[in-house]
Amino acid sequence: MDIQAAVLEAPQGQLQLQTLQLEPPRDREILVRVMATGVCHTDMSVMGRPFPVNQPIVLGHEGAGVVEAIGAAVTKVKPGDRVVMSYNFCGACPSCLRKAPSYCNYFFGNNFLGQRADGSTALSRQGQPVRHNFFGQSSFATHCLCTENNVVKVPSSVPDALFELLGPLGCGLQTGAGAVINVLQPAFGESLVVFGAGAVGMAGLMAARAMGAATVIAVDRVPQRLDLAMQLGATHTLLADGQTDVVGQIREITGGGANCTLDTTAVSAVLRQAVDCLAPLGRCGFVGGAPVGTTLEIDVRDMMLNGKTLRGIVEGDANADVLIPQLIAMQAQGLFPFEKLMKVYPFEAINQAMADAKSGHTVKPILRMPTQTA
Ligand SMILES: NC(=O)c1ccc[n+]([C@@H]2O[C@H](COP(=O)([O-])OP(=O)(O)OC[C@H]3O[C@@H](n4cnc5c(N)ncnc54)[C@H](O)[C@@H]3O)[C@@H](O)[C@H]2O)c1
Ligand SMILES: [Zn+2]
Ligand SMILES: [Zn+2]
Repeated sequence: MDIQAAVLEAPQGQLQLQTLQLEPPRDREILVRVMATGVCHTDMSVMGRPFPVNQPIVLGHEGAGVVEAIGAAVTKVKPGDRVVMSYNFCGACPSCLRKAPSYCNYFFGNNFLGQRADGSTALSRQGQPVRHNFFGQSSFATHCLCTENNVVKVPSSVPDALFELLGPLGCGLQTGAGAVINVLQPAFGESLVVFGAGAVGMAGLMAARAMGAATVIAVDRVPQRLDLAMQLGATHTLLADGQTDVVGQIREITGGGANCTLDTTAVSAVLRQAVDCLAPLGRCGFVGGAPVGTTLEIDVRDMMLNGKTLRGIVEGDANADVLIPQLIAMQAQGLFPFEKLMKVYPFEAINQAMADAKSGHTVKPILRMPTQTA
């Protein structure tokens, strides 16, 4: 079938909307008519090459849509179901069998390689292959293929107007919320600091407040993002302007150090602050997609004597089938108001949406597909 998709032709290029051809779903694949998709910082990172992917490729990995067709072996969803797509995994390696699919031994191949596991591509342009299967979806398109592993059914109680905002639950929001809920686990009355008040950091801070953290501090370079962080429940903000003594201020606000910190900036110097400002037995998680080869210098003695933990986290350690419905339920109660992060753009404005995310103007752009019928 013919579809419309945003194609990255070369690194650092602009995305171009083109007509491509998509194969029908194979036995284990699901064809989704994308209604809307979020833009994640990771889409922009791969364009800038910190994690290289081959081109031409269709990116996009926060899709929400309606199942249009299913392969013969698919039982989890049926045509007409509303779904959110998340990251992909193999389901059979040691990590997947341990119920830790975001650490799938084949995570790279399933999410970044731009082709199916057997090397074929379902997407083409005048007979020439175009890479797809980005995070098992490539949702910067009117239609895409996914699998049972990375599709989550949306509860029927969700109104259509909210449905188009759900795609980022599949990556950015589940990453920040899951990092806090599943890994850092601030206890009632404890403190948490997010470094980087973007979509991931904001999701982390909302989750921390919902869990009863008493002190939640947001650190960012963009003052407007700090204002929004306060509206979302931060108790304090710190502007990372190079003048502020961030570590000293956090120690002062928390009375000796933070219990939990979450770094989303992918900047080593900031990650170091996130470790340095911890209280004894403090936990630091980091999720930022740093360029290949990035290293971090750590004060080993401080880590040991204070019993500090430093943990990399992929997709919030989340099982999307479990966490996404929970986040939807929390949003319905006003405890996880992710809609406040979002601005909807028409699909054609994809390059503008990315520019606005980069400048800090929009926290989470949502691209509405032209085929959408509400
Ligand atoms: N590990 C995972 O599973 C996973 C999942 C999703 C996103 N990510 C990554 O997480 C990171 C955050 O994603 P996002 O969508 O929230 O991005 P974002 O761009 O919306 O947020 C990053 C924030 O960090 C701030 N920042 C940058 N440098 C800073 C500095 N030196 N000091 C203070 N603040 C600084 C920016 O102003 C911005 O607000 C990205 O690197 C993304 O690739 C990882
Ligand atoms: Zn696996
Ligand atoms: Zn992402």
